[in-house]
Amino acid sequence: MPNPRAIAKRMLLRTVEVLTSRHPVLLPQIASDEASTLDVTAPYRVEGPTLDIQIHNPGRGELTATLLTPNGTNASRVHWRSKPIPFNGPAMLGFDLTSGQVRVGGQDCGHAPVPLPARRFSWALTIRDSGRERSRVTGHYLPGNGAVGDDYYAGGNYVDYEAESLTTRELVVALARQYPFRGVAVEIGCATGGLLEDLGRAGFDAIGVDYSAWAVGRARERVGQDRVWQVDVEKDELTETPLAARAPFGALIMLSVLEHFADPFGVLERVGRLVGPGGRLFLTTTNAGGVGRWLFGRDWEGYFDWTHRGVDAVSAESLKTHLDRLSWKIEQFGTSLVWDGNADPTHATLREWWVSDARFRRLLAERDLGDLITCVATKR
Ligand SMILES: C[S@@+](CC[C@H](N)C(=O)[O-])C[C@H]1O[C@@H](n2cnc3c(N)ncnc32)[C@H](O)[C@@H]1O
Repeated sequence: MPNPRAIAKRMLLRTVEVLTSRHPVLLPQIASDEASTLDVTAPYRVEGPTLDIQIHNPGRGELTATLLTPNGTNASRVHWRSKPIPFNGPAMLGFDLTSGQVRVGGQDCGHAPVPLPARRFSWALTIRDSGRERSRVTGHYLPGNGAVGDDYYAGGNYVDYEAESLTTRELVVALARQYPFRGVAVEIGCATGGLLEDLGRAGFDAIGVDYSAWAVGRARERVGQDRVWQVDVEKDELTETPLAARAPFGALIMLSVLEHFADPFGVLERVGRLVGPGGRLFLTTTNAGGVGRWLFGRDWEGYFDWTHRGVDAVSAESLKTHLDRLSWKIEQFGTSLVWDGNADPTHATLREWWVSDARFRRLLAERDLGDLITCVATKR
């Protein structure tokens, strides 16, 4: 059912575009006046037992602090709300993640229920002062840990892995058609087998491996017992795995997995030996040389996934160097996307800029500054 407001908005913007020959963009109201946005220092990644948010604004007023936790993909729910707290100028909001205690300027302001239901959470802060209101949403996450089981794909790392992987699956099937190969394709880190299923439907012969027992179980239900195996490509001797008997492969598929290895290019070298001359490589990975890490440092989205052990080593520059060293001829290489899941509106700026301005997208692409890399290569 089309949304009448969305249709009216589209028509209005199109009319402005035609009348002014400019590209109109709608930004949230907060973009119109920085005085309405609280000035804070707030880490995205919370390393210790306490989150400290420094509120820099001078002046007196009443502060309300609301703790938000995720509710589905792009929504949140109120987890706890403070009573109005007297605010007398710059102060620290401290949130003890073990006890739930919230303190502002050293004063106890109550306890939020802990442990939190998810790794991600936000604070919505509002200061009211004689009719004037200033606010800010801050975004945070707790470092993850543990094995890659079902929780990793539904809440621990991905919110909804199956939905989030659809676009990449479509992209890779299209690339496989554009850059054909002979024989069988092998996917390293095939997770629950969605791409293997899509490739099979599109007429390609594809098998996969993953080190998650849980994911291999789901993938086997999807594409068959004899097409997916539990292999740790970092630790297992590849000549002793089911891959050895099926090599050489016509294509090597590695999507969002290179950055997981402690020695990404050592693994690329080993799995690359499974592919014969003329074979293809279809690869997506993170770019440690991109705008996100440059701007946010330790708060870059690339550090959210605790299994990203090699994320610092993989960049557009290092990948190009190693592909050449390992006898891969690059057919297509590009970086894209401002990758950032932080709810803070100052982070949203960059995402919105990426979505709305083709010049910004071009700028990042031309300088290899996008946060994610897509690459197709052929073995020499
Ligand atoms: C971020 S997920 C990406 C899944 C899928 N390739 C995609 O793009 O949707 C990374 C996958 O690689 C797998 N993986 C990580 N390290 C691995 C290793 N050493 N050997 C095999 N699989 C690994 C994980 O279990 C996980 O399924």
